[in-house]
Amino acid sequence: MSSEINKEEEKELLLLSESFPLDEKNERKKMKPVAEVHTLLKGVTIDKEKIFYKAIGLDDYEEVKKLHKEWFPVPYNEEFYENIFKKNNGQYDTVGAYYPLDMGEGKIKNVLLGLIIIQWRYVNKYFFDIVGKEVSEEINRSIDYEEEISFLFTKYPAYFCLYVMTLGVIDECRKMNIGTKLLKSVLNYGINTPYCLGVYLNVIENNFSGIKFYEKNGMTKTKHLKDFYEIDGKKYNSESFVMIYSREQKNKARSYRFSQMKWYRKLYKILILKPFYFLVKIFLMIFLCRWFSKKVKAD
Ligand SMILES: CC(C)(COP(=O)(O)OP(=O)(O)OC[C@H]1O[C@@H](n2cnc3c(N)ncnc32)[C@H](O)[C@@H]1OP(=O)(O)O)[C@@H](O)C(=O)NCCC(=O)NCCS
Repeated sequence: MSSEINKEEEKELLLLSESFPLDEKNERKKMKPVAEVHTLLKGVTIDKEKIFYKAIGLDDYEEVKKLHKEWFPVPYNEEFYENIFKKNNGQYDTVGAYYPLDMGEGKIKNVLLGLIIIQWRYVNKYFFDIVGKEVSEEINRSIDYEEEISFLFTKYPAYFCLYVMTLGVIDECRKMNIGTKLLKSVLNYGINTPYCLGVYLNVIENNFSGIKFYEKNGMTKTKHLKDFYEIDGKKYNSESFVMIYSREQKNKARSYRFSQMKWYRKLYKILILKPFYFLVKIFLMIFLCRWFSKKVKAD
């Protein structure tokens, strides 16, 4: 009897993440919990209303590492975590889903239920290789050429995308919409950031719940990449998902940003920037017309 109870307890302690590949028997490796949150949440009924979202703090460094061990088969090295926590010149960003746990004696501990880590990446050849050429049309439709002109005067590449590096929710809190909220916060962040064209990511091909999750959240499956992941010396294929913001979404965000600007920035935009872009456009058109007519005459 007691061994039966032990077995039952052991069963409860096993976690499952579909990020782990299927083995020869079409089964997935189950993990014993290593993160602190599982012990802290024992016997706690989660009140969804109390969950809140914020950037992950240094206090959670070790917990984030443990959660990644539970969720992902890829061994992330120390440099990965250091980069994320240092944010590395703003290249990385995080959002965590937290639950305020009453520890007694008036003490509250905010425990991590899920998190998303993103990286800013240039829209370049590598990006198109990953997401596939078919998104280029969508990208063309979302580009604001006025913004593009402004890049002629800077040394930086014109457009960025957000790459979702990792996303996970603890087993106890899955299917509670936490993953969706984390992803949506990133999608909204991208829309509201100038020059961000969209969001993309990769999922191991047999991560059925992950794939369903991204589809449900409006992302488009674009490219199947062969041997994208290497796990324990074996190669696995990946599916790429992408969401490119439409021109309308970006325009809406732009007018929102404009409405939030201080009055002197609004004046600067209306009186200086807009006329400047207009003159640049006229100048380019005249230049092109003259070049074309010269070419026709020469022919
Ligand atoms: C994928 C993951 C982040 C989803 O988080 P979640 O908080 O459980 O997701 P949500 O509750 O927001 O689910 C939204 C939708 O995704 C789909 N979905 C989520 N989990 C699913 C599952 N196990 N099976 C099928 N569909 C699923 C459903 O369509 C769901 O909508 P519904 O509840 O109306 O049916 C979570 O399962 C997880 O952490 N998995 C392990 C790590 C991982 O695989 N990460 C993704 C790859 S980076």
